[in-house]
Amino acid sequence: MKVCVIGTGYVGLVTGVCLSEIGNRVLCVDNDDRKVSQLRGGKVHIYEEGLEELLAKNLESGNLSFTDDISAAIRESEIIFICVGTPPLPSGKPDLSAIDEVAREIGKSLNGYKIILNKSTVPIGTAKRIKKIINENTNPENEGFDFDIVSNPEFLKEGEAVKDAFFPERIVIGSGSQKAIDIMKKLYRPIIEQDFEYAKNNSHRKEKVPVVITDSVSSEFIKYASNAFLATKISFINEIANVCERLGANILDVTYGMGLDARIGPRFMQAGIGWGGSCFPKDVRALSYTAEEYGSPAGILNAVIQVNNQQRFKVIQKAMDFLGIIDDKIIGVLGLSFKPNTNDTREAPSITIINKFLELGAEVRVYDPVIKDYPEGLDPGAIMAVDPYGALERADLMVLVTEWDEFISLDFERLKNIMSGPNIIDGRNVLDREKLQEIGFNYSGIGTGTGTGTGS
Ligand code: UDX
Repeated sequence: MKVCVIGTGYVGLVTGVCLSEIGNRVLCVDNDDRKVSQLRGGKVHIYEEGLEELLAKNLESGNLSFTDDISAAIRESEIIFICVGTPPLPSGKPDLSAIDEVAREIGKSLNGYKIILNKSTVPIGTAKRIKKIINENTNPENEGFDFDIVSNPEFLKEGEAVKDAFFPERIVIGSGSQKAIDIMKKLYRPIIEQDFEYAKNNSHRKEKVPVVITDSVSSEFIKYASNAFLATKISFINEIANVCERLGANILDVTYGMGLDARIGPRFMQAGIGWGGSCFPKDVRALSYTAEEYGSPAGILNAVIQVNNQQRFKVIQKAMDFLGIIDDKIIGVLGLSFKPNTNDTREAPSITIINKFLELGAEVRVYDPVIKDYPEGLDPGAIMAVDPYGALERADLMVLVTEWDEFISLDFERLKNIMSGPNIIDGRNVLDREKLQEIGFNYSGIGTGTGTGTGS
């Protein structure tokens, strides 16, 4: 099928590349012509396993191409994916100006029948808003046009985006038009049936992917409620971890014991310094805003946000417990990205933590396996180290902020010798406490108290 994907951010690029891989002719559009020429040359601006190879393959086969001509792309396509950003305004309400602009362009360029599909996470009711804007902007010279709107939210996780796009846990299609639903099922057939080249011999291949057919409002709701629930799960477990710490219990044992109850489950229960990234903070705030706007205030969601905002400061408290006064101390921070296997630093706890240490007068050295430039919001007083050992030389304290594999297998004997103070704060509970204590480190995790931490 002829598909156009508007916006080549995380969601748009992965969607475009994966749709081309399963046999569609995909035209990806971006108004940033520098980005377009980079992508035409096969260069991916995000760090995502497998994406660059698939991009190169499909550029070469001609299934995938890039353009900054939105109007031509719309005219040539049967299905138009809207994948532009919806960043939060200061109030928490998402900024829909990019979506509105695209809807106006679609209106002007409509010809024939098209499906307009929204993949960006958008406020509940946006499908109707897009329809209205398109109708207001249609060009009377373009005769015989018709369109349907579909809400088809994306659930991909950064760092696993290609896997999530090919092997999703569900596909949600929200539309009032049976014709549009049938076309969408046809587009996604290879993924629903798990019948495409890339899936063969892939360990993530599923039997079949469930499809949820619903109206557009419920579809938009599924996305928000899923993210809000996942964020709630983490804030809940972090709150429990904080109490465990006071009582000397070990959160690792507690979550293991809880997770054996099939109604609770073991996943997404990793206590730590809280969630960040491009989705959870934005989506939880947006849902809370909508709830308030519609006269049904979301008390739980507001508490989830509040717990998360406080959680990153646990590290500062722990540093004070170890070091007393922070002024003039050297602190080595491991990890900048909001989670491992991505170069995304949006709403990353690292930035809040590092800036606070600098404000308290510490010298802060930072190392991240993939981020080498100063991310937006990071105090330029932080020193970027070229490797973890450089970050920790003469340091009074190590703070692990992001659980990159590289940090778990560091040479801790060597670190013990080069650091000035043998102190480790493990913000993600991933290091081997017993081993570190044997080497002579003072170790502090998040809520790991005194239990075995092995669940046995
Ligand atoms: C999330 C959703 O998982 C995905 O479905 C949606 O499409 C976009 O938002 P992502 O932001 O890429 O994906 O990251 P995810 O792996 O879900 O982690 C989100 C945050 O939660 C990270 O900051 C991570 O460190 C934190 N987290 C996750 C925990 O603190 N504990 C956990 O157990 C899991």
